[in-house]
Amino acid sequence: MTIPRLTDAHPAWLPPEALRAVGSRRVLVLADESALAQTVRAEVADACERHGGTVAAPGGEFDLVLALSAGSLPPVAEAMKGQEIGDEGFVLGRRDGVTAVLADDPAGLLYGFFQVVRLGEEAFGADRPAEAHRPALRRRMLDHWDNLDVHPVMGQVERGYSGGSIFWRNGSARADLTRVRAYGRLLAASGVNAVAINNVNVHATEARLLTDRLGEVAAIAAELRPYGIRVHLSVNFASPIALGGLDSADPLEEGVPEWWAATTKRVYETIPDFGGYVVKADSEGQPGPFAYGRDHADGANMLADALAPHGGVVFWRAFVYDHRQDWRDRSTDRARAAHDHFAPLDGRFRDNAIVQVKYGPMDFQTREPVSPVIAAMPNTRLAVELQVTQEYTGQQRHVCYLGPLWSEVLGFRFWGHGERTVADVATKGGLIAVSNVGDDPYWTGHPLAQANLYAFGRLAWSPGLDPAALLDEWIGLTFPGGSEVVRETLHTMMDGSWHTYERYTAPLGVGFMVRPGHHYGPDVDGYEYTPWGTYHFADRDGVGVDRTRATGTGYTGQYPAPWSEVYESLTECPDELLLFFHHVPYSHVLQSGTTVVQHIYDTHFAGAEEAAGIRAAWEKVEGEVDAALHARVRERLDEQVRSAREWRDQVNTYFLRKSGVPDEHGRRIY
Ligand code: GCU
Repeated sequence: MTIPRLTDAHPAWLPPEALRAVGSRRVLVLADESALAQTVRAEVADACERHGGTVAAPGGEFDLVLALSAGSLPPVAEAMKGQEIGDEGFVLGRRDGVTAVLADDPAGLLYGFFQVVRLGEEAFGADRPAEAHRPALRRRMLDHWDNLDVHPVMGQVERGYSGGSIFWRNGSARADLTRVRAYGRLLAASGVNAVAINNVNVHATEARLLTDRLGEVAAIAAELRPYGIRVHLSVNFASPIALGGLDSADPLEEGVPEWWAATTKRVYETIPDFGGYVVKADSEGQPGPFAYGRDHADGANMLADALAPHGGVVFWRAFVYDHRQDWRDRSTDRARAAHDHFAPLDGRFRDNAIVQVKYGPMDFQTREPVSPVIAAMPNTRLAVELQVTQEYTGQQRHVCYLGPLWSEVLGFRFWGHGERTVADVATKGGLIAVSNVGDDPYWTGHPLAQANLYAFGRLAWSPGLDPAALLDEWIGLTFPGGSEVVRETLHTMMDGSWHTYERYTAPLGVGFMVRPGHHYGPDVDGYEYTPWGTYHFADRDGVGVDRTRATGTGYTGQYPAPWSEVYESLTECPDELLLFFHHVPYSHVLQSGTTVVQHIYDTHFAGAEEAAGIRAAWEKVEGEVDAALHARVRERLDEQVRSAREWRDQVNTYFLRKSGVPDEHGRRIY
């Protein structure tokens, strides 16, 4: 096991400096010979070699001990025994000048090691009582929308803003997978333990990863295994036809489940710790069970049965809707679709079939209500899906720190105060996100977009963490030794950046207004007369989508009380979601006291100004951060300022022309 050392990529949150505190100590590792324990040993040896510390021999002196609880322990670690640790967990404490990490399994030891890295010198300061850490969610996963071949429209990484794929190049797995190992290392240090390595839209070449191209999957799995990351594949529901030569993919037809069982068995013979499948079925043109008159439980259960003997799971996506809608028809509501399709199936899914639900009912918008599906399937294992790649949040050209958005979603309570949160529901299935990583030297195109990847992993481990604190944690690791100015500037630029982005884009939860196809930049009516079901219905009198039970699509009825009432009510509906739920006149007065149209003007002027402020702040750290990184961020910020201005002017002009209502403050609108 060698620690990957990249010369052509930014170290993200694991620069050598971040391991100085550990690497300058005497470190004792007491563990077995498992792959993950070897990784911990290799990490310790590598850090010590860089920073002058030593790998302590049993019986010698040490400042840090990382130990598996089953073995014989030095007194400091022995004293921490008795606390419940659990899978992947660890206990960390410090006494009598020795820091100790104790775990029941090697994965816990690895996570404990990275916790010590995160703490840095603090881990070796004052005594600290032994404290148990364990992941709230067992499945913490990134989905890569990577294609093997460059897709003519979507490119190599669908919705990717960071260059090509780290896994694939020119139609096959990369020959040099060092970058993949380094990625696994970064993920382990943030808490992620699973990835899906190909796009949910499974095209012809990618479908074959399941069969004759399996060796390439195994090669990637081998690079990620040392960091405790299990590989998953997105599979095409029609594979029995395309790959197996059958004439049907009907889950209830003889031969089809058998094909899946045999194929899956071969996968596990090649990759014994394979995680499972991800499926996008009957969605946006992908094949699925509907073609045979079957439902999604029939489809998912067939795959679940194939995976069950091997301990695998299928993540079955609930992102199913009619993408050939008639825009003239105001009764069909895309927001309703996932609940309409899936809620009636509650209780019918196998235990290893996880229904993967996007956090909102539409599609990763800057602001959406939490999907009612999350409350509607108590007898199903649900996973919640987020989008780290910034498809609708600035495409890694805009600074948009998403920690606060995810934290709001994860902490949302459907059933009133004191009861279960979205994160609690997700403990059964997992937290999943679409990755934002590519072969870009900064991993994420915009260097500051690394913070989103980091925060995702940390929130998947512990959904209650404060996103502002996570931001500081990321800043501290990524810019080690950074001055107060660097730390403060980054914090100020990023912490409120999601709200800033929201201010200059689609108002009050109505969503979209982006250029069709690539989804970047403003186009207020871009989707208004398309079949995609994403409308704002602005006319001369008002704007918004009536999703009430009283007069609209009835979507509010998919929520349990009190939300079904809160969203239904024009006066109680939170301002930020008003146009998602209601069609209102421009003169409608928000809870904030401003009219809808004035709110649109005010927020768009403010948002564009804030973007300019973020751009100006970055100048303060010139000379204090790496020059190339500074230049890259500056170039992106210039684009953000330009784009925010464009959003401001197009949205404001649109609504001035529609409504005829002038801005109270007489600012320039075109
Ligand atoms: C969005 C995105 C698509 C993606 C889809 C999905 O609609 O634009 O590129 O395939 O989500 O989540 O399946």
